[in-house]
Amino acid sequence: MILVTGASGTIGGHVVRLLADRGVPFRAMSRNPVDLPNAVRADFTDPVSLTAAVAGVDAVFLVTVPPVPSAEHDIALVDAATAAGVRKIVKLSAIGSGEPFEGATVGAWHVEAEEAIAASGLAWTVLRPPSFASNFLRYQAMIAEGDQIPNVFGTARQPIVDPRDVAAVAVATLLDSTHDGRRYDVTGPELLTFDDQAAVLERVLGRPVRTVDVGLRPQLEAAGMPAEAIAQVSLGTSWAGAGGAEYVTEHVNRILGRPPGTFEQWAIDHRAMFNRMR
Ligand SMILES: NC(=O)c1ccc[n+]([C@@H]2O[C@H](COP(=O)([O-])OP(=O)(O)OC[C@H]3O[C@@H](n4cnc5c(N)ncnc54)[C@H](OP(=O)(O)O)[C@@H]3O)[C@@H](O)[C@H]2O)c1
Repeated sequence: MILVTGASGTIGGHVVRLLADRGVPFRAMSRNPVDLPNAVRADFTDPVSLTAAVAGVDAVFLVTVPPVPSAEHDIALVDAATAAGVRKIVKLSAIGSGEPFEGATVGAWHVEAEEAIAASGLAWTVLRPPSFASNFLRYQAMIAEGDQIPNVFGTARQPIVDPRDVAAVAVATLLDSTHDGRRYDVTGPELLTFDDQAAVLERVLGRPVRTVDVGLRPQLEAAGMPAEAIAQVSLGTSWAGAGGAEYVTEHVNRILGRPPGTFEQWAIDHRAMFNRMR
């Protein structure tokens, strides 16, 4: 039995679909599991609900998105999993975590969580992907309106990854103990700037996708994000914007036996989601 946390989210949603397709028993965790198969209602801030969610579970896919970056949610799950005799945790982390940059540590909260998992004595695999191709879905309405979409990465290139590949690697590492104790930077196949991605999308959609260079901080402030969260999110973005993530890895090839998907293929497969907004 596998517990999929973040099951209503981007990567967890794909993990649920892949496990269902393969006939692997799973539980899909959400605070509000309305449309999820095999759903369990649980919240990282509610230890009683976590105890119920991990009962009888062999492995956990761990996705945390705390409102202010902190390892608390991960540690709550680790505590419940340890008490329940879970064998393994596969944690979704992020590329660059642990890198020193501008006098601080990129993804410090992910690193703290990774260390807590390793210290628990449970088996683990850590996945550290770069920016997801699906982040462009945030701009559906702006693209439909012909508005300029905000580029916070400048001319830095990143190995944009298809979230379906991250999920497929997650499933492989949940089911195969040869990946225990490994950290994988799960990248896409090519390095792209934000403007490169916009150009690909423009070609696929057949209409203009215009970008404008902006600073991230004012955007986050306008969105009402707490100052502590802004500091951590900005650090990771600045690291990537300075070219920190300008590398590709062979992990998808090695683990899945096929190359990772391109941004163009992701755009083709999701064209309808952009067209629907018109
Ligand atoms: N986006 C990127 O480009 C990128 C790149 C690298 C790494 N990452 C990492 O990927 C992770 C995010 O993954 P994602 O994009 O798949 O997530 P997502 O789509 O943002 O979904 C977040 C999930 O977390 C669940 N959740 C939030 N608070 C919860 C709580 N208190 N208790 C239980 N569940 C809770 C939500 O479920 P309910 O609302 O249904 O409860 C939802 O399913 C982050 O850790 C991020 O650092 C992201």
